[in-house]
Amino acid sequence: MTKSFEKNIDDLKFQIELGVSETISANITKDINKANSLETNSSLEHDSNELSEIKTLNDLQSFIENYDECELSHTARSTVFCDGNVDAEIMLIGEAPGNQEDIEGKPFVGKSGQLLDKILETININRTNCYISNIIPWRPPGNRNPTAEEISMCLPFIKKHIELINPKVLLLVGSISSKSILNKNLGITKLRGEWHIYKDGEIEIPALPIFHPAYLLRRPNNKSYVMRDILLFKRKIQDMKIL
Ligand code: URA
Repeated sequence: MTKSFEKNIDDLKFQIELGVSETISANITKDINKANSLETNSSLEHDSNELSEIKTLNDLQSFIENYDECELSHTARSTVFCDGNVDAEIMLIGEAPGNQEDIEGKPFVGKSGQLLDKILETININRTNCYISNIIPWRPPGNRNPTAEEISMCLPFIKKHIELINPKVLLLVGSISSKSILNKNLGITKLRGEWHIYKDGEIEIPALPIFHPAYLLRRPNNKSYVMRDILLFKRKIQDMKIL
């Protein structure tokens, strides 16, 4: 076996184990740009109209649970909607459930979620004082990357979710979450390290992108970047008197 072949196999095993498709590749950027342009097209108007009628989290959850136009909902065991405190002023947004999340029906409960919990604990954030959801509520089969169409179908759900939670700050976990929420054609390495503004109609919320914990498990040398970013986050929530 060649070294590069072994590395590819290791990469695949790693992704399957973590249940996340966190790679920083040109394809993801292309897909997200496509997703954002699809989302602004009329194909989603029907859902957007129905979504605009939704006023509660329970109704949003039922709407998503009954939505069967996204193929992912047919292959996943669970619709992973949220975890944490619905009254929290801090909202975290990840990419998509992995295997453990699909089994338990909760976001970030697998290995990468455990690392995320440890990182957050350093600034006294835990599931009692933050709210967590994902861009995609269903596990992509084999933990592959969500496609542009899947992201575009699910983006209105998370936007509605943000509107209903009405958080004061957003922590965007990983490249897919950051690019699609911020509608930016930039990789996570460019987006992280500074504050951005999430805008949706009248809504404007400061948002900080960070590396995905799955990426950190794979590239532990990058932990210092996340610790720097998490301190930026801490300073902001202190300034805003959130915690
Ligand atoms: N990775 C994510 O982005 N979200 C999860 O819920 C789990 C792993």
